[in-house]
Amino acid sequence: MTKESRLKDLKEEIVKMKVCPKLASEATNLVFGAGNPDSQIIFIGEAPGKNEDLKGLPFVGAAGKFLDEMLSQISLERDSVYITNIVKYRPPNNRDPLPEEKKEFLPFLKRQIEIIRPKIVVTLGRHSLNCFLPDAQISKIHGKVMKIKLVLGKAKNDQLEILLVPLFHPAAALYNGSMRKTLIDDFNNLPIILKNLSKGIDNE
Ligand code: URA
Repeated sequence: MTKESRLKDLKEEIVKMKVCPKLASEATNLVFGAGNPDSQIIFIGEAPGKNEDLKGLPFVGAAGKFLDEMLSQISLERDSVYITNIVKYRPPNNRDPLPEEKKEFLPFLKRQIEIIRPKIVVTLGRHSLNCFLPDAQISKIHGKVMKIKLVLGKAKNDQLEILLVPLFHPAAALYNGSMRKTLIDDFNNLPIILKNLSKGIDNE
């Protein structure tokens, strides 16, 4: 089975399993994720907003435009990477996703990562970071490269080694001058991380 067909099945499973039915009932679309499933790098935001809900695609509003700009600054096309969120339905009025919503969607996010098998996971914002490192503070560790083992299943060796790169969320940084600069600076380090990876140099 190709990665595309496995991802399609996983998307259908979210609907069939009635994950977060309340959110689903108020949403226009399930925003599963988009981009290249063979990408070495995956970007994970928190949850779709209004534009994403209407289009069924992640990061297509103002924050998405900013993300596109940063990607193009480092010569990466949006279609060459994979972009998704933890929570796949829009929370009403753009409120933060609730802990139980993140918990319900986490196994699906992990399976999505397991299918794509990226080398680098870039978390956008604290909600996404805390899925991987529950006690970490984004203000303290943004931009750091951390090698982590992502536990996928119950079996002992059912894990994936990834480089985690926590970044500020583009929506939070959009109108905050200093956070915006920090995010852009951190983002601009991604090519070095990718280059080191291709040369087998340790990034930590
Ligand atoms: N913010 C997110 O976290 N995800 C989106 O898809 C859009 C905005």
